[in-house]
Amino acid sequence: MARLMIVSNRLPITIDKKDGELFYHPSAGGLATGLNSLDQDMDKVWIGWPGKTIRDEAEKRSIEKQLHKDDIIPVFLSRKEKLLYYEGFSNKTVWPHFHYFTQYTTYDTSYWKAYKSVNQKFADAVCEHYQDGDLIWVHDYQLLLVPNLIRENCPNASIGFFLHIPFPSYEIFRILPWRKELLEGVLGADQIGFHTFGYMRHFLSAAYRITGHEHHFGKLTIDNRLINVDVFPMGIDYNKYAFPEQVTNQKEGYEAHYLEPGQKLILSIDRLDYTKGIPERIEAMAEFFERYPKYRGKVSLVMIVVPSRSNVDQYMDLKNEVDTLVGRINAQYSNFDWTPILYFYRSFPFQDLTSMYKAADVALITPLRDGMNLVAKEYIASKETTKQGVLILSEMAGASNELTEAISVNPHDIDNMVESLVRALEMPLEEQAERLEVMQYKLKRYNVKHWAESFINEQIEMMESQQVSQTNLLNSDVKTQLIQQYKTAEQRLLFLDYDGTLMNFQTDPQAVVPDKELMQLLENICADSKNKLVIITGRDRHTIDEWLGHLACDMAAEHGVWLKENNKWRKSTEIFDSWKKDIRPVLEDLVLRTPGSFIEEKDYSIAWHYRKIDKDLGEKRVREFRDVLRYLTASLDLQVLEGNKVVEIKNAGVSKGKAALNWINAKNWDFYLAVGDDHTDEDTFKALPTNDNAYTIKVGIQQTTAKYNLLTVEEVRTMLTEMVSE
Ligand code: UDP
Ligand code: G6P
Repeated sequence: MARLMIVSNRLPITIDKKDGELFYHPSAGGLATGLNSLDQDMDKVWIGWPGKTIRDEAEKRSIEKQLHKDDIIPVFLSRKEKLLYYEGFSNKTVWPHFHYFTQYTTYDTSYWKAYKSVNQKFADAVCEHYQDGDLIWVHDYQLLLVPNLIRENCPNASIGFFLHIPFPSYEIFRILPWRKELLEGVLGADQIGFHTFGYMRHFLSAAYRITGHEHHFGKLTIDNRLINVDVFPMGIDYNKYAFPEQVTNQKEGYEAHYLEPGQKLILSIDRLDYTKGIPERIEAMAEFFERYPKYRGKVSLVMIVVPSRSNVDQYMDLKNEVDTLVGRINAQYSNFDWTPILYFYRSFPFQDLTSMYKAADVALITPLRDGMNLVAKEYIASKETTKQGVLILSEMAGASNELTEAISVNPHDIDNMVESLVRALEMPLEEQAERLEVMQYKLKRYNVKHWAESFINEQIEMMESQQVSQTNLLNSDVKTQLIQQYKTAEQRLLFLDYDGTLMNFQTDPQAVVPDKELMQLLENICADSKNKLVIITGRDRHTIDEWLGHLACDMAAEHGVWLKENNKWRKSTEIFDSWKKDIRPVLEDLVLRTPGSFIEEKDYSIAWHYRKIDKDLGEKRVREFRDVLRYLTASLDLQVLEGNKVVEIKNAGVSKGKAALNWINAKNWDFYLAVGDDHTDEDTFKALPTNDNAYTIKVGIQQTTAKYNLLTVEEVRTMLTEMVSE
């Protein structure tokens, strides 16, 4: 049975060692808590680091045995690997950088080397345990290279990748010296998921600008592999927080210990992390008590800070800063029976967390940047039965996209934070219930199960569509049959497109001069008197004639405007070019406003190319002048063709398909072949008869009316070579 292989740096269980004895305890953090509550129908295997450096081999084996009971496969890291890969590249380079803390980004090649080798270690562990049909799901910023490393060893595996943290804007991302390798690593996946559309947009923009891969509606094609990029906001196990087992009403407990009757409780829970805005929050509390003395003695902040990455210097510094700030404010405002900030620097068991959620009148969740923030969602769920409580949420948290009924704050804006606190504390119960209900409705529906299912289902669909496109591939059986029919045929008609079919694309169209191998191949085809070869292209006739004119073949140029037969060019139909003088100034103006774009003028068409400039700018320009062109061409018999980074204006009623009919109708052919790569070749495919002796082949895996697909120019050349060889 197909299994789900979850791969993450942090396992749901972390190992600790005290006095030589091993302890297993649940891990904190959104990834581990979220994924651990997955109740999947599929069997699960979890591969990851158990969080403790174990040196002794016998001890490793015993841990392996223990974890195997829970279908967990540990990847052990040495002390050095932990230092360079985990504390180093993951948490001193990627983490701060992706959260826009570029002042903390550390550029260290030894970190990068360790990151690469540990990512390889994870990929090896995956491939070692991979079984055919398994779905692999790699998680988060510590393992950005893993998808592609798995792909290298298990090329057919279905690989998903989910990033739990923000993906920064291109301008930030491009600063990293390893930006290209990191992107290529992730692009090894079949499906890539983000919490928000903003992160997805940043990723696609970086992928295009740095690796040159373009997307169409979130789909990228790389080496004829389709990659789906989409948004999957992570949810929580709603019922676990809404209806927790054995919850004591801790409010009384806290009141008894820390609060006077009637005092209100504000809650914050985060890992100790500079992204969480903890000092800013404390400052806001101080300002709140300063500005509103009436709340002194009436309101306390219970601030739970969970220790995290405590060997990383910025985290140590933050710990000192938080300790000092809390000490200062408590010293300033506390009195005998009231403390403004009740600060706990430790983690809490689930029962205690849910009790605190239930007891809190206000949750103050104010990260400076946060991929999602599950604490905010857990707080809302915990109010399922009481419908009382107010969430103040930073607009910088991914969760703020969904929790739009929370009081939204800018965590850098202290006034905004203070006034939001007042608003929250004074919000009428009715309004609290209204806001909670709307958010609860969303969280109930888009819970963690739904999140995982939608990711996995989309990945399965991707896997299936990859397989479908594989089924149209010209496999060796069809190729053998094609070659056999070719050999026995006496009158063969062969249509070959040029760019993207016989030659790979280049940025400069004039640089695509045929190479020796291609010339030899075409000469061999033409040498057989049973063959009628037609080069059918969108290029102007002068260029194609200069390059291939000496061959004994026919041609159709400018998408069928010009036909060459018996060494003579003629126009395919009565067409005119007087319109060009009206259209040309529009395009010239466009070139002036869009440096890097250029005009290609052919006899009966004009094209505006934007392949050398930013695609987004090019598309913006196309949108702008599309209407102008339509207006100008409306009364003329013209068509506007939007191609691959080119817009071409040409006479209506001319196409490669029409041109092809010129040869198709000329004889009773007993073998047909048409090979092409772009949408203009579809007209040729449609013009061919549908007989068994007619082969239409699309280069690439895009949708086509052709019967078969080949993946690359090289494959086309190989097939043709085999076809004409003795
Ligand atoms: N959490 C925990 N133990 C604690 C405090 C918090 O397990 O003592 C959990 C909390 O319930 C939440 C997760 O840690 O599920 C924190 O996830 P979030 O997305 O808010 O932040 P992250 O730590 O991933 O940045
Ligand atoms: C965030 C990251 C997770 C990470 C967690 C705890 O949620 O996205 O990948 O596991 O923080 O951090 P840690 O370094 O302890 O794993």
